[in-house]
Amino acid sequence: MYENYSQILDELKSKSHFRDLKDYEGKDEKYIYFKGQKLLNLSSNNYLNFADNKELTKEFLDYAGDKYSFGSASARLLTGTLPVYSELEELISNLYNKEATLLYNSGYHANVGITSSLCQNGDVIFSDKLNHASIIDGMQLARGKFFRYPHLDMSALETLLEKERKNYHNAIIVTESVFSMDGDIAPLKKIVELKKKYNCILLIDEAHAFGVFGRKGLGVADELGIIGDVDLIVGTFGKAIGSVGAFVTGSKILVDFLINKSRSFIFSTAIPPINVAFTKWIIENKLPVVREKSRNMLSLGRKFGSESHIIPIVVGENKDTIDLCEVLFHNGYFTLPIRPPTVPAGTSRIRVSLTCEIEEKELEKLKECVSEGLLVK
Ligand SMILES: Cc1ncc(COP(=O)(O)O)c(C=O)c1O
Repeated sequence: MYENYSQILDELKSKSHFRDLKDYEGKDEKYIYFKGQKLLNLSSNNYLNFADNKELTKEFLDYAGDKYSFGSASARLLTGTLPVYSELEELISNLYNKEATLLYNSGYHANVGITSSLCQNGDVIFSDKLNHASIIDGMQLARGKFFRYPHLDMSALETLLEKERKNYHNAIIVTESVFSMDGDIAPLKKIVELKKKYNCILLIDEAHAFGVFGRKGLGVADELGIIGDVDLIVGTFGKAIGSVGAFVTGSKILVDFLINKSRSFIFSTAIPPINVAFTKWIIENKLPVVREKSRNMLSLGRKFGSESHIIPIVVGENKDTIDLCEVLFHNGYFTLPIRPPTVPAGTSRIRVSLTCEIEEKELEKLKECVSEGLLVK
């Protein structure tokens, strides 16, 4: 009965594409425990060390006591909106100086819900080719059309806009700021210029930049001083913030539209109040005091040739990538092979993500293990 599925799985195995879940023994700040070994975790999005941090968890629970429950038991539009949700939304609106903010259960929910609903019949999206799967899935669900421009290629984007913009009603340009698998950064100032010239809505996904980049830790748009030019900014709480969930911030009209039309928001039980309270507590109390650490982490990334804290080691073939992970494992590093469809075929890689407690000297052996030429594409 399941022959067809097992055939597909066999095929994945034969191409070193098969994914499986690993039984880690534990995580603790910058380390992960696996197969009896304590390894430096280079595969985590816990950029600011707010997750897997026992001291911080205890401090939060002492503050939170029994004020917040572990289940929301309802979608936001039903009985799932307690004060802490609106307080977090207001906090984010104030930080970004935007009219309104909406929480989503995850970055995936946010991107799917926003792109699929904003792009109505007769509308169009222009999306960077390497945008996250959640953006691609949302565009595929949308009733309107989408085009994908080559990664970071502004002249290709402008050519597309020149040719296609006039054929559609609303047009949306969507890009990540820091790209999740490449660690490079979109030329946001140029994109703002194009958005204005061609009358488009600009949606920026700051998933890997929120908490890390910027004067206030709000992302690359914050760093560049262009928040006011961006229509919608998405940020996630599951990475630098060490929590779970996501937000989109922008104008009241667009946020009201999303409340009414984005199905991943409407038809899903809200994240638990305790997580919302943790996110709010981190943003208010902890984020402002780690700016220096965050900057140091970014400088370390730059020493490895990256524009950010994400350092791609592009190997090429799946099997070679898996083998390199194994070598690194025996040298005390935990890394994971990133393979298609997460990245384009032939560009399988190890995605080293730095976290702010990692010191340069801890990466010396990594440099030795990976030949110089392989570091960063
Ligand atoms: C750029 C980008 N956007 C969105 C997401 C999804 O966020 P979440 O993990 O909160 O669903 C990710 C997750 O890896 C991401 O890399």
